[in-house]
Amino acid sequence: MILVSRDLSRPSGPVGPSCHEPVMLREVLDLLAPRPGGLYVDATVGGGGHAAALLEEAEGARLIAVDRDAQALERARLRLAPFGDRVRFLHAPFSALAGVLGPDERGRVDGILADLGVSSDQLEDRARGFSFQKDGPLDMRMDPSRQKTSAAVLLASASEDQIESWLREYGEERFARRIARAIVDARRVGPLLRTSQLADLVSRCVPRGRQSIHPATRTFQALRIAVNGELDELDALLASAPRLLAPGGVLAVLSFHSLEDRRVKLAFRNEARSQDYELLLPRGAVPSRAEQARNPRARSARLRGLRRRPEGGEVRP
Ligand SMILES: C[S@@+](CC[C@H](N)C(=O)[O-])C[C@H]1O[C@@H](n2cnc3c(N)ncnc32)[C@H](O)[C@@H]1O
Repeated sequence: MILVSRDLSRPSGPVGPSCHEPVMLREVLDLLAPRPGGLYVDATVGGGGHAAALLEEAEGARLIAVDRDAQALERARLRLAPFGDRVRFLHAPFSALAGVLGPDERGRVDGILADLGVSSDQLEDRARGFSFQKDGPLDMRMDPSRQKTSAAVLLASASEDQIESWLREYGEERFARRIARAIVDARRVGPLLRTSQLADLVSRCVPRGRQSIHPATRTFQALRIAVNGELDELDALLASAPRLLAPGGVLAVLSFHSLEDRRVKLAFRNEARSQDYELLLPRGAVPSRAEQARNPRARSARLRGLRRRPEGGEVRP
């Protein structure tokens, strides 16, 4: 059964400027402390907000701007055009990052940023199917050019147990069993192809007034994580990125839910057991109250850092 219509894998038109507000911008820059002429990797360039600020702060610094979403890269190209050949763009997921950097770059990077999850640009574009607030195709792929399985295909083919376990594990959804059952019942009648169909179905399963967030929030988060293999991707990044750093280089990761932050915390602690790395912000930093009030997306953010010790010996790539 093919549920992906052709227009799901096409960009939804020319990209406009980014509407994404970079989270904890000052804190990220303070952590990376970019130096003039340094080499940096933004592994999640998105709309280019963090990247532009980094390039402005450090004269002559070079940036490798990476994203697995081709539309995000287009937006970043617009935003970062004033920095000319100081920026190189790479369309790649975390799991390919080490492989797409040149041999002369691996082990020589002064700072790497990963600002996890989806951007406001992706959420706002109804054609991408990330948002329960906007009706669109139930897609959710960050890279439709390389990922074959949209959320609609996943829901059409997964078992009830599998759906329940995604909802429980990735969405921490208390009503996982009920929602999984309703999805399987609904698909016997007809395929779930639109975000609004899924949002309505979930709303009918979750008792009213029990949650402060929209009832479909956790289900959409869980499905997005499953569609994009986000936790495997994060694990791949946490395994490879420390080895890309130059002595004194910093890896900064901004996470947005406890599943991500737990992985970052454990991976960083593990690295810091060796003599080559040290923890920065051991407890993680959170956004100021002012930022949380201004930008609701920032509310769940936590920033952590890992530094390759300047005096550390050779780190095997
Ligand atoms: C929160 S946004 C980054 C926003 C950016 N820092 C800014 O200031 O505009 C996250 C970006 O990471 C990208 N992304 C998520 N997972 C990825 C992965 N595994 N590999 C590469 N890019 C990824 C998404 O496509 C999205 O554009």
